Amino acid sequence: MDTLIIRGGKPLKGEVKISGAKNAALPIITASILASGENTISRIPDLRDVYTMGKLLANMGIRYSYKRGSTSVDTSALSNFEAPYELVKTMRASVLVLGPLLARYGRARVSLPGGCAIGARPINLHLMGLEKMGAKITLDSGYVTAKASRLKGASIYFDTVTVTGTENLMMAAALAKGTTILENAAREPEVTDLADCLISMGAKIKGAGESVIEIEGTDELKPINKYKIIPDRIETGTFMAIAGITGGDLILKDCRPDHLDAVIAKLKEAGVVFKKTKRGLRVVGPERLIARDIKTRPHPGFPTDMQAQFMSMMAVADGTSVIKETIFENRYMHVAELRRMGSYINVDGGTATVHGVEGLKGAPVMATDLRASASLVVAALCAEGESTIHRIYHLDRGYDKIDEKLRNIGADVRRAAS
Ligand code: EPZ
Repeated sequence: MDTLIIRGGKPLKGEVKISGAKNAALPIITASILASGENTISRIPDLRDVYTMGKLLANMGIRYSYKRGSTSVDTSALSNFEAPYELVKTMRASVLVLGPLLARYGRARVSLPGGCAIGARPINLHLMGLEKMGAKITLDSGYVTAKASRLKGASIYFDTVTVTGTENLMMAAALAKGTTILENAAREPEVTDLADCLISMGAKIKGAGESVIEIEGTDELKPINKYKIIPDRIETGTFMAIAGITGGDLILKDCRPDHLDAVIAKLKEAGVVFKKTKRGLRVVGPERLIARDIKTRPHPGFPTDMQAQFMSMMAVADGTSVIKETIFENRYMHVAELRRMGSYINVDGGTATVHGVEGLKGAPVMATDLRASASLVVAALCAEGESTIHRIYHLDRGYDKIDEKLRNIGADVRRAAS
């Protein structure tokens, strides 16, 4: 099934239970490699990317199982230290096995992730850090081969803030000999969640969530014991956008508003009203949104993973919005599709100027990447008439049962084969 058919144009009302965070689940599952024995993790979302990560670990001989939101990972039978191109090319986060494999086993062979729709996605900073920790890194025929008798603590400065780079090196440093300092580290909540999980395993980490993180290496870590990961802030933000654009009234359950300060502040300026209630965060959309400007920045700035969804909102806002994407070089693939629905958007390099129109019209559109597909869902829910979103497998990478959640709040949405 790879299309989603949506008839939009009505305010959506009801409750949405937010799932676990994809970008916390992926690094925390790879952190299991650092410890022998059975690791158990809960609130794991049912996503294509989580399934792909499970396949990657199983391919290494790791015993991996996923049942009703919990995973169990046992590395005692790990026999293969390779992350093959076939798997890595479908999910760049596979590179997160590099640090743990090197730290625990002293060896790893990981396919370079290659680019994706939104950008070149290099991993030079991951490799720079591991080399500083004593790893011998060679690149051959599209693979990184890394070896290290024992990684040693080092001082590492990231000249670009990198989320998975920070995560890979934090995991590598947890078993290194000596202390590692990560400077200009990523401050995303998913980095902090990984740190909290590593600390539950016995790691000694200070400063996660700040831009300087200190990790004092230990000789061994305990397996993860029922660690519950954080809720998905981008799924939360996406449903906030849905309430905003449809003039809806949603209660978001199990979410963490404190992970979304920049997004909530901007949506309030655009006319969305928020209220904390016993059942969860209530989000009420206005009659018509007010155009506001955004610039994506590393956390705690406005997240790049919410840029496309915000653009859909601005497409029908009152006024003109200027959007600056500063993290990825090609994250406007959704613009051409939004234009097909009647939006008036001009793109010049990293800047998109969105002239709000009265309303959008449903149309057949194509998903190109995960958050672009989310922005098309947001737009289709407000558009008059029917939209067919093709290649919806992009959406399934990062949203757990989104069509079910949408139907529960009154949306007219169904899956179909193309
Ligand atoms: C993580 O990707 C997220 N993925 C992305 O979410 C998110 O968009 C991104 O962080 C930024 O917040 C996961 O956590 C699995 P980066 P990551 O390394 O770590 C440059 C989604 O939709 N860079 O923070 O791959 C890079 O080119 C996904 O859920 C280097 O130059 O992103 C980019 O311009 C999409 N060299 C910038 O840093 C490096 O070695 C930020 O990339 C690494 C990164």
